[in-house]
Amino acid sequence: MDLGLKGKVALITGSSKGIGLETALQLLKEGVEVTICARNEDRLKEAAAFLFEQTGKEVLVVVTDVTQEDQCKNVVEATIEKYGRLDILVNNAGTVQAFTFEKVETELWRQDLDLKLFGAIHCARYAVPYMRQVGGGAIVNVTAISGKTPPATSLPTSVSRAAGMALTKAMSKDLGPDNIRVNTVCIGLIRSEQIEKMWKNQAPELSWEEFSQKDRQIPLGRIGNTDEAAKVITFLVSDAASYVTGTSVNIDGGVAGTL
Ligand SMILES: NC(=O)c1ccc[n+]([C@@H]2O[C@H](COP(=O)([O-])OP(=O)(O)OC[C@H]3O[C@@H](n4cnc5c(N)ncnc54)[C@H](OP(=O)(O)O)[C@@H]3O)[C@@H](O)[C@H]2O)c1
Repeated sequence: MDLGLKGKVALITGSSKGIGLETALQLLKEGVEVTICARNEDRLKEAAAFLFEQTGKEVLVVVTDVTQEDQCKNVVEATIEKYGRLDILVNNAGTVQAFTFEKVETELWRQDLDLKLFGAIHCARYAVPYMRQVGGGAIVNVTAISGKTPPATSLPTSVSRAAGMALTKAMSKDLGPDNIRVNTVCIGLIRSEQIEKMWKNQAPELSWEEFSQKDRQIPLGRIGNTDEAAKVITFLVSDAASYVTGTSVNIDGGVAGTL
């Protein structure tokens, strides 16, 4: 199937590792020009070298903290300066913050919303006008299934993620007439550095396979891999999903609702 992505330009936030890096790889393989960004410059350079090794293609690297609106503006404008257009935005930057209610101080609520909600808002604010200029675009907000089915220990992240889903829905209605599609993916458990840390902290005595398959009520029986998330994101930003907007797709091995 031709995904119709060749020649398009994508900005992926939080793309120095994990799901963001894998999404960059998948999009490069489809002929997309890519900007990667995150805060740590060394990790970004390593990511760019990895992507070059895998695809023979250079990416634009822009050190960016998405909690800072001026830096979101800067990464969008750097992308336009380099590639002349912007078709795709993947708002992926994020970290796990999962506690019970009384353990979360006000400052942490603010930090989490700054990262997961305002980061996406700022990037979209500057990207949307450029998408209009090229007759449309696609935005994917990477969130978590805890936004739909929040466990007791999921604060503040599940609240920030639920807000991200409402943002997606409202923006899809607002921007549909401009042919800008906005969708969410809701991640369950995907093997990335943050999950590997959880493995080392919780059960270092287990092999990865044992840890991955440990009973977590995941119908598919294991933790997912980054390419299994990145391929869904790639589909959603592609022309193959040209009639898909305002929806959320769980990438969770079927676990949502069983938690
Ligand atoms: N993996 C899972 O099981 C899982 C589950 C639920 C939701 N998610 C969500 O899915 C997304 C990707 O997860 P992942 O597991 O691939 O994460 P990861 O491996 O920890 O990577 C997170 C990326 O975000 C960047 N980042 C963090 N804070 C940032 C900021 N303020 N500005 C810009 N970049 C920032 C990190 O780089 P720097 O630190 O250098 O900035 C890194 O590139 C995240 O939003 C995460 O919350 C993942």
